[in-house]
Amino acid sequence: MIEKNLSVPQLAEEAEAEFRRRFGRPPRWITVAPGRVNLIGEHTDYNDGFVLPMAIERYVVLAADAAPAKTSGPGHYTLCSMTSGQNQSWPADGAPPGGQGDWTSYVWGVLDLCQQRGLATGPLEIVLHSTVPVGGGLSSSAALEVATATLVEAITGQTLDPVKKALLCQQAEHEYAGVPCGIMDQFSSVMGRANQLILLDCRSAQAELVPLRGDDVSILITNTNVKHALTGGEYAERRGQCEAAAQCLGVRSLRDCTVTQLAARQADLEPALMRRARHVVSEIERTTRAADTIRRGDWPATGELMYASHESLRDDYAVSCEELDLVVDLARQIGLSGGMYGSRMTGAGFGGCTVSLVRSDQLAAIAERLAAGYLDKTGIQPTMFVSRPAEGARIFRQD
Ligand code: GLA
Repeated sequence: MIEKNLSVPQLAEEAEAEFRRRFGRPPRWITVAPGRVNLIGEHTDYNDGFVLPMAIERYVVLAADAAPAKTSGPGHYTLCSMTSGQNQSWPADGAPPGGQGDWTSYVWGVLDLCQQRGLATGPLEIVLHSTVPVGGGLSSSAALEVATATLVEAITGQTLDPVKKALLCQQAEHEYAGVPCGIMDQFSSVMGRANQLILLDCRSAQAELVPLRGDDVSILITNTNVKHALTGGEYAERRGQCEAAAQCLGVRSLRDCTVTQLAARQADLEPALMRRARHVVSEIERTTRAADTIRRGDWPATGELMYASHESLRDDYAVSCEELDLVVDLARQIGLSGGMYGSRMTGAGFGGCTVSLVRSDQLAAIAERLAAGYLDKTGIQPTMFVSRPAEGARIFRQD
C-alpha cells in the first residue's frame, strides 16, 4: 500500500547503468536534487509570506558527461529521460525543439542562464532519472532545475550561493517554462535538511529550521493521481488577483495586511478578490502558528491548522478539486482516534497530492482506509508514500 522510497545510491546506480547502456562509457558527474512537500503555507510565497515545506526522499538524479567533440558545427545537449522514455537534443547555442514549457525547458533554462553568468558547461550528454511524481504538486520541475544547477556546479567547480542558486532556478521556471512560480520549491530543493522543516520568510529569504524529530509522527503523502489544471493559467490568474488585491488595499503585498485589517476593508474589495486575499492573509498567520505548534510537539493543534488551510484553499482560494477534498474528508473521518492529526492539499492544487500528519503506529491502517475509500468513490487507485525531511541537492559524483 505504501510505496518504498528508493535511496540516492540506488537511483545513482540505475542512472549510471542507463548512461553506460546509451553512451558506452560511465558518466563523469552525478547530481541529485529532492522534491518537496509543503506542510502548510500554500500560495503565500509569491505574496512575500511564510511557507513551511520540507525536502522529501524523492529525487531527480542526473548522470552526465561532456558530449564527444564534433568535427563541425556547434555541439549539442542530449537529454534522455528514464521515466518518460523521451530523448531530446538541441544545439548548445540554441533552444530545444519543444521550446518554452516543454519537458526539456527546465534543463535548457538553467544551462542557458548559467552560461549567461559565465558558468559554461559545453555540450553534454545527460540521463535523467526521477522518483518525484510528475504533476503531483511535489515540485518535480524545481528538482530538475536544481539538479541541473548542481550539475553546472560539479562541472565548473564553482559553488553558487544557495539563495542565488534557488533564484536562478526560479528564473528558469519563469522565463523558459513560462510558470510565474514563487520561490518555495527551488528553495526547498536547495536548502533541505534531514529531519528539519523549513520556515521560510519569502520576503527576506531567511530560513529558520523547525525540527521534526522522533518517530512518533509521520508525513504521509497521498497522490490522487488526477490533474485538472490544463493550461496552468489558473496559477498566474491567482497571482494576478493577489497583486490586484494588494493594490486596492494600498499595501506592497498581502504580507503587509493582517486578518483584522482585511476584515475592516471588506467594502474596498470585490468579493472574489476579498476571498483570495482572505486565504493568503489567514494562511500566513496559520503558517507561523504551525511552526510554533510543531516546535511544541502539539500534533492535534498542528493538524487543525492543516484542515483549516485546506478549507481556505478550497473555499476562498478555489484551487482544490473533488478528489483532493475526498482524501481530506476521509482523513477527517479517520480522525484523532484513528491516528490522523490533520490533512490538506499540498502544492498549487487542482489535483496532485495531499499531505497528512499521522501517528506512525497507525500508518498502515490509515493508508488502507484512505486508499479503499478513495478507490471506492473515484475508481482511481491512489499512490502513497511516507517521507522524513530530506537533505537538499548535492553532487553525488565528481571525477
Ligand atoms: C507551486 C509554485 C510555488 C507555490 C505553490 C503554492 O508549487 O511553484 O512557488 O506558489 O505552487 O503554494
